Amino acid sequence: MHACSIRELKKEYVLKGETVRALRGVSFDVPEGDYVAIMGPSGSGKSTLLNLLGCLDQPTSGQLLLGADNVAKMTDNQLAEIRSTRIGFVFQSYNLIQQLTVVENIEVPLYYQGRLGAKQRRRCIELAERVGLSQRLGHRPSQLSGGQQQRVAIARSLVNDPYFILADEATGNLDSRTTAEILALFDELNQEGRTLIMVTHEDDVAARAKRVIRLRDGLLQSDTPNAPEQRQAAADRAHAAAAQALAAEAELMVQADRSPD
Ligand SMILES: Nc1ncnc2c1ncn2[C@@H]1O[C@H](COP(=O)(O)OP(=O)(O)OP(=O)(O)O)[C@@H](O)[C@H]1O
Ligand SMILES: [Mg+2]
Repeated sequence: MHACSIRELKKEYVLKGETVRALRGVSFDVPEGDYVAIMGPSGSGKSTLLNLLGCLDQPTSGQLLLGADNVAKMTDNQLAEIRSTRIGFVFQSYNLIQQLTVVENIEVPLYYQGRLGAKQRRRCIELAERVGLSQRLGHRPSQLSGGQQQRVAIARSLVNDPYFILADEATGNLDSRTTAEILALFDELNQEGRTLIMVTHEDDVAARAKRVIRLRDGLLQSDTPNAPEQRQAAADRAHAAAAQALAAEAELMVQADRSPD
């Protein structure tokens, strides 16, 4: 079973009478359990592709299958339904609701579907625990670090049992230590069978995926698997950098302690 299949996917934008061909016929499959990084220069069509995968927009032509659903043939209402029930989004800017607690933010997609019973509430708490926030259930976003906020967003993306998690530069706002934590969480989720598709500009982040798709001028330029050793080496580098950052922080704290005041 494929989480998604796309065939000759095209997207054209018409702007002031001029046609921009953002995607010019892209085809690939994402099997369930895959972990894909999408890369490419600015303007190559990454966001356009992610918007189509996320059912935020319709292709001009071509086929997009999510599971057994043919997205290219859907009405706006059907698209909205799929988007809210079967796609997990993780954005660079977290997109949390400031007035709500951690657990309430995770509940949001269920709340909108009117499906928030006691059982679902318990599941949201379990998801918060799953992403390492068991001590922060009642905190609000402003009381959390960037990495913790991104964990909330990841837990929220899991609430719907999505076809896949779509992450757009999910670590773009995070320091190296927090990036390492979030990527370790992605590794765990993928090992549990979750399908991940992420757009990234960073080679170190893309090296963690199972496969890298490169776009160029709206076309698929390459689709290359990452060797397991290469992925492991990238994870090791990230952990080493994170440990170093932690040690440097501890050293600063010791120095601050020693300085006379
Ligand atoms: N709504 C729109 N209307 C008109 N043209 C658009 C629209 N959205 C994107 N484009 C054009 O489509 C092409 C692909 O844009 P897209 O945003 O997918 O690139 P990208 O790979 O995500 O780039 P970046 O790395 O800068 O985010 C670009 O030439 C862009 O100008
Ligand atoms: Mg973009």
